Amino acid sequence: MKKMFALACGIALTSTLAFSADLKDDANYKAKCGMCHGAAAEGKPAMKTAPMKDVAAKPAADLTASITKGKGKMPAYDGKLQAGDIATLVSEIKALK
Ligand code: HEC
Repeated sequence: MKKMFALACGIALTSTLAFSADLKDDANYKAKCGMCHGAAAEGKPAMKTAPMKDVAAKPAADLTASITKGKGKMPAYDGKLQAGDIATLVSEIKALK
């Protein structure tokens, strides 16, 4: 019985670590992106951002480049976010499609 509980915990833990969260629940998104892209990634006309799902169809490499190097009024996140964190954000954006 104890063993089964441990196993269940192990599965629960691995699944939260292995699968990325929703973009809007990502701590990096909340801290660094939401103010311009909206708390639910709905886009903010005042910030000149489109709903994030509208760019989700773009190739992951393009989204990664935009986040890493910046685009238009968007700042570059090279050096501010780890490459792995950017990759997680990109997969969460692609999941909105
Ligand atoms: C200061 C406001 C601001 C912040 C902060 C910001 N963005 Fe943006 N973002 C923009 C604007 C404005 C655009 C539209 C750029 C354009 O097309 O000229 C944009 C565009 C994008 C795009 C589309 C890029 C493309 O290739 O079309 C993605 C993806 C994106 N942002 C992700 C993020 C992520 C992830 C973060 C947080 C790490 C973030 N943004 C933070 C303002 C911001």
